[in-house]
Amino acid sequence: MNSATPIALQENISLRHLNTFGLEASCRYYVAADEANTLQTFLQTSEIQALPKFVLGGGSNMLLVGDIDALLIHNKILGRSVIAEDAQSVVVAIGGGEVWHEIVLWTLENDWGGLENLSLIPGSVGASPIQNIGAYGVEIKDIFVSLQAMHLQTGEIRAFGPDECQFGYRDSVFKRDLRGQYIITQVYFRLSKAPHALHTDYGAIKEELDRQGVTVPTIQAVSKAVVAIRQSKLPDPAVIGNAGSFFKNPEIPLAQFEALKALHPSLPGYVVDAQTMKVPAGWLIEQAGWKGKRIGNHGVHAQQALVLVNHGGAKGADILALSSEIMADVLQKYGIHLDREVNVVGTVA
Ligand code: EPU
Repeated sequence: MNSATPIALQENISLRHLNTFGLEASCRYYVAADEANTLQTFLQTSEIQALPKFVLGGGSNMLLVGDIDALLIHNKILGRSVIAEDAQSVVVAIGGGEVWHEIVLWTLENDWGGLENLSLIPGSVGASPIQNIGAYGVEIKDIFVSLQAMHLQTGEIRAFGPDECQFGYRDSVFKRDLRGQYIITQVYFRLSKAPHALHTDYGAIKEELDRQGVTVPTIQAVSKAVVAIRQSKLPDPAVIGNAGSFFKNPEIPLAQFEALKALHPSLPGYVVDAQTMKVPAGWLIEQAGWKGKRIGNHGVHAQQALVLVNHGGAKGADILALSSEIMADVLQKYGIHLDREVNVVGTVA
């Protein structure tokens, strides 16, 4: 390596504090990447090119079922700046290793709108486009301009615009065709200057604003409301290990939705298109009797059935087995197949 500040390669590092489920596992090799240029030089050395690689961001969307027999590249590339500005908006460039919620707070301090509904989502900025993070009626694709990503094998840096990212519901090209091939070094968002267009249609936001006595909402007030709603339903990973929604909300044909609705009038549904409805997996899992269920040291969260939890000392394989049981039960009771939203990672011993 010719770099002035060479990257230190470490071996057999525990990942216990690097995943929000708090699961014990290790990786074969580990590097903390805090700068794109040095990472590029590092990736281009022949011994490193030979190793299988895995990129870690905030560790908030993965279930470790065993050790990672690869070089783990921990994205710690920081940086936040305004790179363009006009009367209505700013374009900000954010390093992929920045903590998502810290960036949300920074945009709110500057009164730039767009990220307020996405407050308190765990994880890193670099991971946010991979699964097109979303909450309370907003998805990252709504404010996304472009990103820069480095190819893990060649070190080549490439820009991706919105079309190339192929965003879908909790989905992008980085989860499909380009899975495991890139590390996202920079993300660019376009944010509004006041006056902002607020997204408060998501039922619970209006109720929460009312509860807080807010009559003229601001982006800061919306953020505060979202934080309050999330804290009331979703467990804090610092207290109870979890990875947010464990499953995606399934999309089903309209005819199937109508048949189910006739049997279960309280089934909620959201229109996707003329032939497709999305139903909340949390509702299905709760109705199937799993909400709050505890099996030893793991289980289903008591306030939100979509979240599986590690009460302390659980094994990833146990949580995986629980998720399979839930999937089989929901399929049997409702004829609906659930997909996991979290990435199952590692080799089962
Ligand atoms: N529901 C239940 N029981 C439950 C949970 C939910 O009946 O235990 C019902 C609710 O009554 C409501 C509906 O399901 O009618 C929707 O619930 P909620 O608003 O809590 O949202 P969600 O569909 O469960 C999704 C996202 C969350 C995001 C919220 C808010 C997915 C997979 N999850 O959850 O994202 O915060 O909407 O927008 O789309 C994440 O991706 O990690 C995540 C937390």
